[in-house]
Amino acid sequence: MSPRRAKKTDVDLDNTEALEPSAGDTGAKAPPRPNKSRPSDLSDEERAADEILAHYPLAEPSLIMVLQELNDHYQWLPPKALLRVSEKLGVPFGKVQGVATFYKAFSLEPKGKKTVKVCLGTACHVRGAGMLVDELKRSLKVEPGHGMSEDGDYSLETVNCVGACAMAPVVMVGDNYYANMAPGNIGKMLKKEKPA
Ligand code: FES
Repeated sequence: MSPRRAKKTDVDLDNTEALEPSAGDTGAKAPPRPNKSRPSDLSDEERAADEILAHYPLAEPSLIMVLQELNDHYQWLPPKALLRVSEKLGVPFGKVQGVATFYKAFSLEPKGKKTVKVCLGTACHVRGAGMLVDELKRSLKVEPGHGMSEDGDYSLETVNCVGACAMAPVVMVGDNYYANMAPGNIGKMLKKEKPA
């Protein structure tokens, strides 16, 4: 499965062609509930999972779509939400984890509000993409694919060719593509992209 397709947006940078209710306290006995957990007992992650699951048949074929919506919501897949999905869909937890691990579009670690993606395809690699990764690691103090910047704003990833080789080396932040990037432009890009 591939991530949702990004919309290319040109960005201008110098030297860059960018681009339930409770029973109430009436003394009446609460009716039996269908689930083990009452809504008030649920964590935020479990409630979020339930809201997404409500739109799908509670069966294994729904798994990937549910995980995708959860990942879109949190930018990662919290363990409590995964466990809830496992219970509700009747899919063994190990299998849910296996699917979450298999697809690169899913993250099992919390991510920053935005993810900076550096293309390391051949064209970008030969035009210095490695130096962009080094500069981003230094600026954000993160490793590609792991963790987020101290302020929680950014995560860093490397990706394969994104089909914009003529503009190599390419860096993406959300829907924005930054072309012909140089290490000296990284700071300006991060400032421009900084989440509000
Ligand atoms: S190699 Fe980076 S866009 Fe093709």
